[in-house]
Amino acid sequence: MNTIILAAGKGTRMKSGTPKVLHPVCGRPLLRYVLDVVQSVGSLKICVVIGHQGEHVRRFLGKGILTVVQRRLLGTADAVRCAQKILRSSSGDVLILCGDTPLLKKETVRSLVRKFRRTKADGIVLTAEVGDPSGYGRIVRDWQGRMTAIREEKDATEEERRIREINVGVYCFKARALSAALKKVKLNPVKKEYYLTDVIGVLSRRGAKIETYLTGEPQEGWGVNSREDLAAAQQVLRQRFLRYWMAEGVTIEDPQTTFVEADVRIGRDTVIRPFTVIEGNVRIGSRCVIGPFTHLRPGTRLADEVQIGNFAEVSRSRLGTKTLMKHFSFAGDAEIGRHVNIGAGTVTANYDGKNKNKTVIKDNAFIGSDSILVAPVKVGRGAMTGAGCVVKKGQVVPDGGVIVGVPGRIIKKI
Ligand code: UD1
Ligand code: CA
Repeated sequence: MNTIILAAGKGTRMKSGTPKVLHPVCGRPLLRYVLDVVQSVGSLKICVVIGHQGEHVRRFLGKGILTVVQRRLLGTADAVRCAQKILRSSSGDVLILCGDTPLLKKETVRSLVRKFRRTKADGIVLTAEVGDPSGYGRIVRDWQGRMTAIREEKDATEEERRIREINVGVYCFKARALSAALKKVKLNPVKKEYYLTDVIGVLSRRGAKIETYLTGEPQEGWGVNSREDLAAAQQVLRQRFLRYWMAEGVTIEDPQTTFVEADVRIGRDTVIRPFTVIEGNVRIGSRCVIGPFTHLRPGTRLADEVQIGNFAEVSRSRLGTKTLMKHFSFAGDAEIGRHVNIGAGTVTANYDGKNKNKTVIKDNAFIGSDSILVAPVKVGRGAMTGAGCVVKKGQVVPDGGVIVGVPGRIIKKI
Protein backbone atom coordinates (compact mmCIF):
# COMPACT_ATOMS: atom_id res chain seq x y z
CA MET A 1 0.00 0.00 0.00
CA ASN A 2 1.10 3.54 -0.79
CA THR A 3 -0.26 6.61 0.95
CA ILE A 4 -1.21 10.01 -0.41
CA ILE A 5 -1.74 12.98 1.91
CA LEU A 6 -3.49 15.97 0.39
CA ALA A 7 -2.07 19.22 1.69
CA ALA A 8 -1.86 21.64 -1.21
CA GLY A 9 -4.83 23.76 -0.25
CA LYS A 10 -4.37 27.45 0.52
CA GLY A 11 -6.11 27.37 3.87
CA THR A 12 -7.62 30.74 2.95
CA ARG A 13 -9.79 30.95 6.05
CA MET A 14 -6.77 30.73 8.36
CA LYS A 15 -5.66 34.18 7.07
CA SER A 16 -2.10 33.21 7.81
CA GLY A 17 1.43 33.53 6.49
CA THR A 18 2.03 29.93 7.58
CA PRO A 19 0.75 26.97 5.54
CA LYS A 20 -2.35 25.59 7.23
CA VAL A 21 -0.99 22.09 7.88
CA LEU A 22 1.99 23.53 9.78
CA HIS A 23 -0.13 25.31 12.38
CA PRO A 24 0.55 23.68 15.75
CA VAL A 25 -2.02 21.98 17.93
CA CYS A 26 -0.79 20.98 21.40
CA GLY A 27 2.73 21.77 20.22
CA ARG A 28 2.74 19.68 17.04
CA PRO A 29 1.90 20.74 13.49
CA LEU A 30 -1.44 19.45 12.18
CA LEU A 31 0.35 17.42 9.53
CA ARG A 32 2.42 15.58 12.19
CA TYR A 33 -0.74 13.95 13.57
CA VAL A 34 -1.76 12.66 10.17
CA LEU A 35 1.77 11.39 9.50
CA ASP A 36 1.79 9.55 12.81
CA VAL A 37 -1.41 7.77 11.86
CA VAL A 38 -0.06 6.88 8.43
CA GLN A 39 3.25 5.64 9.81
CA SER A 40 1.51 3.46 12.37
CA VAL A 41 -0.66 1.86 9.69
CA GLY A 42 2.44 1.21 7.61
CA SER A 43 2.85 1.90 3.95
CA LEU A 44 5.47 1.45 1.31
CA LYS A 45 5.72 5.04 0.18
CA ILE A 46 4.15 8.22 1.49
CA CYS A 47 3.56 11.09 -0.90
CA VAL A 48 2.40 14.48 0.35
CA VAL A 49 0.79 16.78 -2.22
CA ILE A 50 1.98 20.30 -1.54
CA GLY A 51 1.23 23.62 -3.19
CA HIS A 52 0.83 26.89 -1.44
CA GLN A 53 4.16 27.60 0.41
CA GLY A 54 5.15 24.03 -0.27
CA GLU A 55 8.84 24.65 0.56
CA HIS A 56 7.97 25.10 4.22
CA VAL A 57 5.98 21.88 4.27
CA ARG A 58 8.78 20.01 2.50
CA ARG A 59 11.35 21.26 5.00
CA PHE A 60 9.14 20.09 7.86
CA LEU A 61 8.73 16.64 6.31
CA GLY A 62 12.44 16.06 5.86
CA LYS A 63 13.80 12.94 4.21
CA GLY A 64 11.98 9.69 3.60
CA ILE A 65 8.71 11.22 2.55
CA LEU A 66 7.94 12.03 -1.06
CA THR A 67 6.38 15.30 -2.05
CA VAL A 68 4.80 16.51 -5.25
CA VAL A 69 3.86 20.06 -6.08
CA GLN A 70 0.37 20.59 -7.43
CA ARG A 71 1.00 23.67 -9.56
CA ARG A 72 -2.58 24.75 -9.91
CA LEU A 73 -5.15 23.91 -7.27
CA LEU A 74 -7.54 22.11 -9.56
CA GLY A 75 -9.20 20.06 -6.82
CA THR A 76 -8.72 16.88 -4.82
CA ALA A 77 -8.93 14.55 -7.84
CA ASP A 78 -6.20 16.52 -9.58
CA ALA A 79 -4.09 16.41 -6.41
CA VAL A 80 -4.35 12.61 -6.31
CA ARG A 81 -3.42 12.42 -10.01
CA CYS A 82 -0.26 14.42 -9.30
CA ALA A 83 0.70 11.99 -6.53
CA GLN A 84 -0.04 8.94 -8.67
CA LYS A 85 2.52 10.18 -11.20
CA ILE A 86 5.17 10.21 -8.48
CA LEU A 87 4.19 6.89 -6.92
CA ARG A 88 4.17 5.26 -10.37
CA SER A 89 2.51 2.10 -9.20
CA SER A 90 -0.45 0.89 -11.14
CA SER A 91 -0.92 -2.10 -8.87
CA GLY A 92 -1.39 -2.37 -5.13
CA ASP A 93 -3.54 -0.23 -2.87
CA VAL A 94 -3.65 3.48 -2.16
CA LEU A 95 -4.63 5.11 1.11
CA ILE A 96 -5.69 8.76 0.80
CA LEU A 97 -6.03 11.26 3.66
CA CYS A 98 -6.07 15.01 4.16
CA GLY A 99 -3.35 16.87 6.02
CA ASP A 100 -5.77 18.87 8.16
CA THR A 101 -7.54 16.20 10.25
CA PRO A 102 -5.51 15.95 13.47
CA LEU A 103 -8.20 14.08 15.43
CA LEU A 104 -8.17 11.00 13.25
CA LYS A 105 -7.19 7.89 15.23
CA LYS A 106 -4.76 5.17 14.25
CA GLU A 107 -7.22 2.41 15.18
CA THR A 108 -9.87 3.88 12.91
CA VAL A 109 -7.63 3.98 9.87
CA ARG A 110 -6.36 0.49 10.67
CA SER A 111 -9.95 -0.79 10.84
CA LEU A 112 -10.74 0.93 7.56
CA VAL A 113 -7.80 -0.76 5.85
CA ARG A 114 -8.70 -4.11 7.42
CA LYS A 115 -12.29 -3.92 6.17
CA PHE A 116 -11.03 -2.88 2.72
CA ARG A 117 -8.85 -5.98 2.55
CA ARG A 118 -11.39 -8.36 4.10
CA THR A 119 -14.18 -7.33 1.71
CA LYS A 120 -11.80 -7.30 -1.28
CA ALA A 121 -13.39 -4.00 -2.28
CA ASP A 122 -12.19 -1.72 -5.08
CA GLY A 123 -12.64 1.23 -2.77
CA ILE A 124 -13.71 2.16 0.75
CA VAL A 125 -14.70 5.49 2.27
CA LEU A 126 -14.51 6.49 5.94
CA THR A 127 -17.83 8.05 6.98
CA ALA A 128 -19.27 9.64 10.12
CA GLU A 129 -22.78 10.46 11.35
CA VAL A 130 -22.84 14.08 12.45
CA GLY A 131 -25.43 16.44 13.90
CA ASP A 132 -24.57 19.24 11.52
CA PRO A 133 -23.31 17.98 8.16
CA SER A 134 -22.90 21.40 6.55
CA GLY A 135 -19.75 21.82 4.52
CA TYR A 136 -19.12 18.10 4.12
CA GLY A 137 -19.74 15.74 1.22
CA ARG A 138 -22.85 13.60 1.83
CA ILE A 139 -22.94 9.84 1.43
CA VAL A 140 -25.70 9.00 -1.07
CA ARG A 141 -27.04 5.42 -0.92
CA ASP A 142 -29.49 3.43 -3.05
CA TRP A 143 -32.54 1.55 -1.77
CA GLN A 144 -30.34 -1.40 -0.85
CA GLY A 145 -28.14 0.83 1.24
CA ARG A 146 -25.19 0.73 -1.13
CA MET A 147 -23.21 3.93 -1.56
CA THR A 148 -23.71 5.27 -5.06
CA ALA A 149 -22.11 8.69 -4.80
CA ILE A 150 -20.64 11.37 -2.58
CA ARG A 151 -22.43 14.66 -3.13
CA GLU A 152 -20.68 17.90 -2.26
CA GLU A 153 -22.89 20.39 -0.50
CA LYS A 154 -22.89 22.90 -3.34
CA ASP A 155 -24.23 20.28 -5.74
CA ALA A 156 -26.65 18.56 -3.36
CA THR A 157 -30.42 18.61 -3.66
CA GLU A 158 -32.58 19.75 -0.78
CA GLU A 159 -33.16 16.10 0.15
CA GLU A 160 -29.47 15.13 -0.09
CA ARG A 161 -28.52 17.99 2.18
CA ARG A 162 -30.54 16.37 4.93
CA ILE A 163 -28.25 13.30 4.87
CA ARG A 164 -26.21 13.26 8.03
CA GLU A 165 -23.70 10.62 7.02
CA ILE A 166 -20.69 12.49 5.72
CA ASN A 167 -17.41 11.84 3.96
CA VAL A 168 -14.51 12.22 6.38
CA GLY A 169 -12.00 12.43 3.51
CA VAL A 170 -10.12 9.18 4.15
CA TYR A 171 -10.21 6.51 1.46
CA CYS A 172 -8.60 3.30 0.30
CA PHE A 173 -8.61 2.21 -3.33
CA LYS A 174 -7.15 -0.43 -5.54
CA ALA A 175 -4.68 1.68 -7.49
CA ARG A 176 -5.84 0.32 -10.83
CA ALA A 177 -9.54 1.05 -10.18
CA LEU A 178 -8.68 4.52 -8.89
CA SER A 179 -6.55 5.49 -11.90
CA ALA A 180 -9.23 4.33 -14.32
CA ALA A 181 -11.96 6.21 -12.47
CA LEU A 182 -9.88 9.41 -12.13
CA LYS A 183 -9.69 9.61 -15.92
CA LYS A 184 -13.49 9.87 -16.04
CA VAL A 185 -13.83 12.66 -13.48
CA LYS A 186 -15.09 15.86 -15.10
CA LEU A 187 -14.51 19.42 -14.03
CA ASN A 188 -17.16 20.45 -11.52
CA PRO A 189 -18.98 23.36 -13.17
CA VAL A 190 -19.83 25.10 -9.87
CA LYS A 191 -16.42 25.08 -8.17
CA LYS A 192 -14.25 24.67 -11.29
CA GLU A 193 -12.40 21.81 -9.64
CA TYR A 194 -11.95 18.09 -10.18
CA TYR A 195 -13.53 16.32 -7.23
CA LEU A 196 -11.97 13.14 -5.89
CA THR A 197 -15.38 12.33 -4.47
CA ASP A 198 -16.74 11.97 -8.03
CA VAL A 199 -14.65 8.79 -8.29
CA ILE A 200 -17.30 7.05 -6.16
CA GLY A 201 -20.08 7.77 -8.67
CA VAL A 202 -17.87 6.57 -11.53
CA LEU A 203 -16.96 3.33 -9.76
CA SER A 204 -20.55 2.72 -8.67
CA ARG A 205 -21.86 3.07 -12.22
CA ARG A 206 -19.25 0.59 -13.38
CA GLY A 207 -20.47 -1.93 -10.84
CA ALA A 208 -17.24 -1.82 -8.84
CA LYS A 209 -17.37 -2.96 -5.22
CA ILE A 210 -17.22 0.04 -2.91
CA GLU A 211 -17.62 -0.09 0.83
CA THR A 212 -17.93 2.38 3.69
CA TYR A 213 -16.62 2.26 7.24
CA LEU A 214 -18.47 4.31 9.85
CA THR A 215 -16.43 5.85 12.69
CA GLY A 216 -17.85 5.64 16.20
CA GLU A 217 -16.51 9.09 17.03
CA PRO A 218 -17.65 11.75 14.54
CA GLN A 219 -15.13 14.27 15.91
CA GLU A 220 -12.39 12.26 14.27
CA GLY A 221 -13.38 13.64 10.92
CA TRP A 222 -13.05 17.30 11.87
CA GLY A 223 -11.01 19.19 9.36
CA VAL A 224 -9.25 22.34 10.52
CA ASN A 225 -10.11 25.21 8.21
CA SER A 226 -10.14 28.25 10.49
CA ARG A 227 -8.62 29.51 13.72
CA GLU A 228 -11.83 28.59 15.44
CA ASP A 229 -11.46 24.99 14.21
CA LEU A 230 -7.85 25.05 15.40
CA ALA A 231 -8.96 25.95 18.92
CA ALA A 232 -11.71 23.33 18.86
CA ALA A 233 -9.29 20.62 17.71
CA GLN A 234 -6.83 21.68 20.39
CA GLN A 235 -9.53 21.36 23.01
CA VAL A 236 -10.27 17.77 21.98
CA LEU A 237 -6.62 16.70 21.68
CA ARG A 238 -5.68 18.32 24.96
CA GLN A 239 -8.35 16.36 26.83
CA ARG A 240 -7.26 13.19 25.00
CA PHE A 241 -3.65 13.63 26.17
CA LEU A 242 -4.75 14.44 29.73
CA ARG A 243 -6.96 11.33 29.85
CA TYR A 244 -3.96 9.34 28.66
CA TRP A 245 -1.78 10.66 31.51
CA MET A 246 -4.50 10.05 34.10
CA ALA A 247 -4.76 6.46 32.86
CA GLU A 248 -0.98 6.22 33.30
CA GLY A 249 -1.21 7.17 36.98
CA VAL A 250 -0.78 10.95 36.92
CA THR A 251 -3.18 13.13 38.93
CA ILE A 252 -4.53 16.06 36.94
CA GLU A 253 -6.47 18.11 39.46
CA ASP A 254 -8.27 20.26 36.92
CA PRO A 255 -8.20 19.15 33.26
CA GLN A 256 -10.01 22.35 32.27
CA THR A 257 -7.05 24.56 33.20
CA THR A 258 -4.15 22.21 32.51
CA PHE A 259 -2.21 22.39 29.24
CA VAL A 260 0.12 19.51 28.51
CA GLU A 261 1.51 19.35 24.99
CA ALA A 262 1.80 16.21 22.90
CA ASP A 263 5.48 15.43 23.45
CA VAL A 264 5.56 15.83 27.24
CA ARG A 265 6.29 12.75 29.40
CA ILE A 266 5.16 12.44 33.03
CA GLY A 267 5.99 9.83 35.68
CA ARG A 268 3.56 8.02 37.97
CA ASP A 269 2.04 9.63 41.05
CA THR A 270 2.99 13.07 39.90
CA VAL A 271 0.33 15.65 40.67
CA ILE A 272 -0.39 18.44 38.22
CA ARG A 273 -2.23 21.25 39.94
CA PRO A 274 -4.49 23.79 38.19
CA PHE A 275 -3.43 26.52 35.75
CA THR A 276 -0.30 24.79 34.57
CA VAL A 277 1.26 24.92 31.10
CA ILE A 278 3.78 22.25 30.09
CA GLU A 279 5.30 22.58 26.63
CA GLY A 280 7.39 20.71 24.10
CA ASN A 281 9.62 17.82 25.16
CA VAL A 282 9.46 18.36 28.93
CA ARG A 283 10.19 15.24 31.00
CA ILE A 284 8.79 14.98 34.51
CA GLY A 285 9.73 12.23 36.95
CA SER A 286 7.56 10.37 39.45
CA ARG A 287 5.93 11.80 42.58
CA CYS A 288 6.51 15.41 41.56
CA VAL A 289 4.08 18.22 42.37
CA ILE A 290 3.71 20.80 39.62
CA GLY A 291 1.64 23.96 39.98
CA PRO A 292 -0.61 25.70 40.59
CA PHE A 293 0.39 28.32 38.00
CA THR A 294 3.56 26.72 36.71
CA HIS A 295 5.06 27.11 33.24
CA LEU A 296 7.47 24.41 32.09
CA ARG A 297 9.13 25.06 28.76
CA PRO A 298 11.01 22.87 26.25
CA GLY A 299 14.28 21.26 27.29
CA THR A 300 13.21 20.89 30.92
CA ARG A 301 13.96 17.66 32.81
CA LEU A 302 12.66 17.14 36.31
CA ALA A 303 13.87 14.13 38.31
CA ASP A 304 11.61 12.40 40.86
CA GLU A 305 9.91 14.22 43.72
CA VAL A 306 10.62 17.69 42.41
CA GLN A 307 8.16 20.40 43.42
CA ILE A 308 7.53 23.51 41.36
CA GLY A 309 4.95 25.99 42.53
CA ASN A 310 3.23 29.30 41.89
CA PHE A 311 4.42 31.52 39.05
CA ALA A 312 7.55 29.52 38.47
CA GLU A 313 8.95 29.15 34.97
CA VAL A 314 11.57 26.58 34.01
CA SER A 315 13.19 26.51 30.59
CA ARG A 316 15.99 24.30 29.20
CA SER A 317 16.95 23.23 32.71
CA ARG A 318 17.48 20.10 34.77
CA LEU A 319 16.37 19.76 38.37
CA GLY A 320 17.57 16.83 40.49
CA THR A 321 15.60 14.61 42.85
CA LYS A 322 13.69 16.35 45.65
CA THR A 323 14.65 19.84 44.54
CA LEU A 324 12.09 22.51 45.43
CA MET A 325 11.23 25.69 43.59
CA LYS A 326 7.94 26.66 45.02
CA HIS A 327 7.34 30.36 44.57
CA PHE A 328 7.72 32.87 41.70
CA SER A 329 11.09 31.92 40.25
CA PHE A 330 12.76 31.59 36.88
CA ALA A 331 15.28 28.91 35.96
CA GLY A 332 16.67 29.09 32.43
CA ASP A 333 19.67 27.07 31.13
CA ALA A 334 20.26 25.82 34.63
CA GLU A 335 21.75 22.57 35.88
CA ILE A 336 20.40 22.10 39.37
CA GLY A 337 21.33 19.15 41.57
CA ARG A 338 19.41 17.14 44.16
CA HIS A 339 17.86 18.40 47.38
CA VAL A 340 18.32 21.99 46.33
CA ASN A 341 16.05 24.64 47.77
CA ILE A 342 15.38 27.51 45.42
CA GLY A 343 14.04 30.36 47.53
CA ALA A 344 11.07 32.48 46.55
CA GLY A 345 11.81 35.01 43.84
CA THR A 346 15.08 33.46 42.67
CA VAL A 347 16.04 34.34 39.11
CA THR A 348 18.71 32.95 36.83
CA ALA A 349 19.72 35.89 34.64
CA ASN A 350 20.67 33.60 31.79
CA TYR A 351 20.66 36.08 28.92
CA ASP A 352 23.31 38.79 28.73
CA GLY A 353 21.92 40.39 25.59
CA LYS A 354 23.99 38.21 23.27
CA ASN A 355 24.27 34.72 24.70
CA LYS A 356 22.34 32.35 26.89
CA ASN A 357 24.64 31.33 29.76
CA LYS A 358 24.56 28.43 32.15
CA THR A 359 23.86 28.37 35.85
CA VAL A 360 25.13 25.37 37.80
CA ILE A 361 23.81 24.68 41.28
CA LYS A 362 25.18 21.60 43.02
CA ASP A 363 23.43 19.14 45.36
CA ASN A 364 22.08 20.34 48.71
CA ALA A 365 22.64 24.02 47.92
CA PHE A 366 20.33 26.55 49.51
CA ILE A 367 19.44 29.55 47.38
CA GLY A 368 18.08 32.34 49.55
CA SER A 369 14.94 34.24 48.64
CA ASP A 370 15.24 36.81 45.88
CA SER A 371 18.72 35.72 44.77
CA ILE A 372 19.80 36.79 41.29
CA LEU A 373 22.27 34.47 39.61
CA VAL A 374 23.89 36.31 36.72
CA ALA A 375 25.02 33.47 34.51
CA PRO A 376 27.43 31.93 33.94
CA VAL A 377 27.74 31.14 37.64
CA LYS A 378 28.34 28.12 39.78
CA VAL A 379 27.04 27.47 43.28
CA GLY A 380 28.84 24.58 44.95
CA ARG A 381 27.59 21.60 46.91
CA GLY A 382 25.81 22.59 50.10
CA ALA A 383 26.59 26.26 49.44
CA MET A 384 24.22 29.04 50.43
CA THR A 385 23.22 32.40 49.03
CA GLY A 386 21.80 35.06 51.32
CA ALA A 387 18.43 36.70 50.71
CA GLY A 388 18.58 39.33 47.97
CA CYS A 389 22.11 38.33 46.95
CA VAL A 390 23.35 39.04 43.43
CA VAL A 391 25.85 36.40 42.37
CA LYS A 392 27.95 38.11 39.71
CA LYS A 393 28.67 36.83 36.26
CA GLY A 394 31.50 34.29 36.31
CA GLN A 395 31.44 33.93 40.09
CA VAL A 396 31.98 30.51 41.67
CA VAL A 397 30.68 29.83 45.15
CA PRO A 398 32.80 26.97 46.54
CA ASP A 399 31.30 23.84 48.07
CA GLY A 400 29.83 24.74 51.45
CA GLY A 401 30.49 28.45 50.85
CA VAL A 402 28.17 31.29 51.83
CA ILE A 403 27.67 34.36 49.67
CA VAL A 404 25.74 37.48 50.63
CA GLY A 405 25.04 41.03 49.47
CA VAL A 406 25.00 43.05 46.27
CA PRO A 407 27.32 42.36 44.56
CA GLY A 408 27.80 39.00 46.22
CA ARG A 409 30.72 38.56 48.62
CA ILE A 410 31.82 35.15 49.80
CA ILE A 411 31.95 35.32 53.59
CA LYS A 412 32.61 31.72 54.49
CA LYS A 413 34.34 28.82 52.88
CA ILE A 414 34.34 25.26 54.04
C1 UD1 B 1 -13.44 17.50 1.04
C2 UD1 B 1 -14.34 16.49 0.35
C3 UD1 B 1 -15.64 16.34 1.14
C4 UD1 B 1 -15.32 15.91 2.57
C5 UD1 B 1 -14.32 16.89 3.22
C6 UD1 B 1 -13.87 16.32 4.53
C7 UD1 B 1 -13.83 16.75 -2.04
C8 UD1 B 1 -14.27 17.31 -3.32
N1 UD1 B 1 -14.63 16.98 -0.99
O1 UD1 B 1 -14.10 18.76 1.04
O2 UD1 B 1 -16.48 15.38 0.53
O3 UD1 B 1 -16.52 15.85 3.32
O4 UD1 B 1 -13.16 17.06 2.38
O5 UD1 B 1 -13.08 17.24 5.22
O6 UD1 B 1 -12.80 16.12 -1.99
N2 UD1 B 1 -6.40 19.86 -1.64
C9 UD1 B 1 -5.33 19.75 -2.48
N3 UD1 B 1 -5.43 20.24 -3.75
C10 UD1 B 1 -6.56 20.83 -4.23
C11 UD1 B 1 -7.65 20.96 -3.33
C12 UD1 B 1 -7.54 20.45 -2.06
O7 UD1 B 1 -4.29 19.22 -2.12
O8 UD1 B 1 -6.58 21.26 -5.39
C13 UD1 B 1 -6.28 19.33 -0.29
C14 UD1 B 1 -6.47 20.37 0.81
O9 UD1 B 1 -5.23 20.92 1.21
C15 UD1 B 1 -7.10 19.56 1.94
C16 UD1 B 1 -7.82 18.44 1.20
O10 UD1 B 1 -7.29 18.38 -0.10
O11 UD1 B 1 -6.12 18.99 2.80
C17 UD1 B 1 -9.33 18.65 1.15
O12 UD1 B 1 -9.59 19.83 0.43
P1 UD1 B 1 -10.67 20.89 0.92
O13 UD1 B 1 -10.71 21.99 -0.05
O14 UD1 B 1 -10.48 21.20 2.36
O15 UD1 B 1 -12.00 20.00 0.72
P2 UD1 B 1 -13.39 20.15 1.43
O16 UD1 B 1 -14.15 21.23 0.75
O17 UD1 B 1 -13.20 20.26 2.88
CA1 CA C 1 -11.40 20.65 4.45
